[in-house]
Amino acid sequence: MEEMDYTIVLDTATIHKKVEELGKRISEDFSQKPPLVLGVLKGSVFFLADLMRAVDLPYTLDFIGVSSYKESTESSGKVEITFDLSSDFTGKHILIVEDIIDTGITLDYLTNHIRDRGAEDISVAVLLDKPSRRKTDVKIDYVCFEVEDAFYVGYGLDYQGRLRNLPYIARLNPA
Ligand code: IMP
Ligand code: MG
Repeated sequence: MEEMDYTIVLDTATIHKKVEELGKRISEDFSQKPPLVLGVLKGSVFFLADLMRAVDLPYTLDFIGVSSYKESTESSGKVEITFDLSSDFTGKHILIVEDIIDTGITLDYLTNHIRDRGAEDISVAVLLDKPSRRKTDVKIDYVCFEVEDAFYVGYGLDYQGRLRNLPYIARLNPA
């Protein structure tokens, strides 16, 4: 297996502190309307597990799988729902939990899909936001960290399916 060269940009303590803060904010903001939390597979699961343990509300949890047809580190712009066991969205307050917003194409597709299925309102929580890469106008309510244009791995984020288990967030260095 080839060696990956990466540089740590956010350590475990920094991530956990920020995630706890976000959990508190979500607990306050949704106190009158416990959300249906919708985790976007697969990259969000590490973040989601920590974030939602910091949310003190009777929320429910579902997952949805989205593929954005990425060749290596670039998006092709084509999006497809690959896995959808989520329940009815009618009248629900949806909180999407996603790993990273890059061009925004995936999130745009997903929010349209959820809105079409009757959601009352849709909020979005993300671990990383790369605003400089945006190609669509998407609304993000909760951002842990804004990052510059690079490719990130760890804490759920993968490069070709690997490196999700790194306990920190690292920037992948080009070979
Ligand atoms: P977008 O549709 O361009 O916003 O791409 C969003 C999806 O691309 C994310 O959900 C990730 O799965 C993937 N992605 C984008 N940038 C990165 C990165 O830096 N590291 C790992 N995955 C990424
Ligand atoms: Mg993703």
